[in-house]
Amino acid sequence: MITCSAPAKVYLFGEHAVVYNESAICCAVNMRTRVNIEYSENIVIKSSLGTTGIDYEIHPYVSAVVEKIRKKSPCRGVSISIESDIPVGSGLGSSAAVVVATICAFNNLLKLGMDKESIASFGHSIEKEIQGAASATDTYVSTMGGTIEVPKRRHLKNPLCNLIIGNTNVFSSTGQLVAKVASLKSIYPEIITPILSTIGKTSLRGEGLLENEDYRALGELMDVNQGLLEAIGVGCDELSRLIHSSRAAGAFGAKITGAGGGGCMLALADNENIDAISREIKNAGGIPIITGVTDSGVRVD
Ligand code: MEV
Repeated sequence: MITCSAPAKVYLFGEHAVVYNESAICCAVNMRTRVNIEYSENIVIKSSLGTTGIDYEIHPYVSAVVEKIRKKSPCRGVSISIESDIPVGSGLGSSAAVVVATICAFNNLLKLGMDKESIASFGHSIEKEIQGAASATDTYVSTMGGTIEVPKRRHLKNPLCNLIIGNTNVFSSTGQLVAKVASLKSIYPEIITPILSTIGKTSLRGEGLLENEDYRALGELMDVNQGLLEAIGVGCDELSRLIHSSRAAGAFGAKITGAGGGGCMLALADNENIDAISREIKNAGGIPIITGVTDSGVRVD
């Protein structure tokens, strides 16, 4: 039996803009999906969603990985079991984490000799197949760990303050939100394109602030980024409530993380404010998760 795991990720800056090749900064965070794999008679995929064989309704990402791997490297059955700390459809990269952890598990079971770059790019091809438009960001960050600027894939200094996630528990579909932004952009290109480019600039300015550990200014720019995300139509009432409550409770800054339209927000905070921010996220109807950056990308456990 082999067990591999991969982390969730948050965006400090740049979601949606990154789909158009603008800069974004992501951090891998301390919540993981673990995938166990062993030989068996048939294909069995077990998770909290149920036990299936190849099943594109219930386990689309793992089914796609299994079918692609078996085409490259025929093997008899395998039993795969998945357990995860990462809420599904919440913008924290749950699909990327399960995809890269499953590829890593096959890589070790079948001795496929893939390096991390190949795991990340194979993972991206699976996300694209299942989700339609998807940038390579989620799979890359979950594979490599740490804090990464994309699309250039430069490792940056990790933020040394607290990251507080607020989950609205409202399911959001990345594919639909990416399509919504694409549609707005095609109707109003002269308005939406500069907004996306300005989001990219918040990320580029954010890099220097991260390097200088200036979290107050970093938070201020996250608030600017949030305004721009609202402008491209990916906000929602539930997210706004959590974001405004976090700011009122003393966060350096707060914004959506991931595709928006539900899912999660992210607040940056010093030690004194963590409890107040968590409490206010709860009072505003969200689920607070206090986390931090992990340098550990996909790995064999
Ligand atoms: C989703 O986590 C982030 C988006 O930028 C889409 C993507 O990069 O694939 C909205």
